[in-house]
Amino acid sequence: MNIHYKNTIIKTNHHVYEPAEDSFLLAEAALDQIKGSERILEVGCGSGIISAVIKNNTGARVTGIDINPYAAACTRDNGVEAIRGDLLNCIRGKFDIIIFNPPYLPTDESERTKDWINIALDGGSDGRQIINRFLEDAGSYLVDNGRILMLLSSFTGIEKVKSKMKSLGYEIEEKNTERISFEQLLVIAATKIR
Ligand SMILES: C[S@@+](CC[C@H](N)C(=O)[O-])C[C@H]1O[C@@H](n2cnc3c(N)ncnc32)[C@H](O)[C@@H]1O
Repeated sequence: MNIHYKNTIIKTNHHVYEPAEDSFLLAEAALDQIKGSERILEVGCGSGIISAVIKNNTGARVTGIDINPYAAACTRDNGVEAIRGDLLNCIRGKFDIIIFNPPYLPTDESERTKDWINIALDGGSDGRQIINRFLEDAGSYLVDNGRILMLLSSFTGIEKVKSKMKSLGYEIEEKNTERISFEQLLVIAATKIR
């Protein structure tokens, strides 16, 4: 299937998260934030929709990383440089903005499936397992005053994520938000101030 969105055509793959409201909300927030030739990393790039939209609508330089090999390949097919890796483990260098639409759904053992789509959604029992692991390391990959742009959901415990960010030395701003049925989506910009 092809998705047409903001000067971009995205080819999807059935092993890869299909772009949804969260992807579009974060892509819009990213376009609002990017002003020039920032260096950008997208963690969990999936189909590459957010990175490709950035590449096609701004002067920023963008790289993607995803633990799912089909996602890294799909992102490359959609015109963005991408590698396979676990969060930031194989990343070198520093970035102006790191973007992440993480797996954020609270998921119990009984709900878990053995496929790549589970990896895209499964945030562990509280929904914050991958988010917390990412936040512990992200500061080392940001320039001074660099930012994280992250999608959060009311299912994930937004206040708990904000507290974690503050305790790690980030200043937080709430950006784009959207209600989808029983779920509130929110983009947080977290700027590294120490
Ligand atoms: C909710 S999807 C978002 C995909 C895409 N960015 C979008 O917005 O449409 C989450 C993505 O994170 C990836 N992911 C999950 N755990 C990861 C990890 N430990 N390291 C890197 N990527 C991971 C998944 O494979 C999936 O592609």
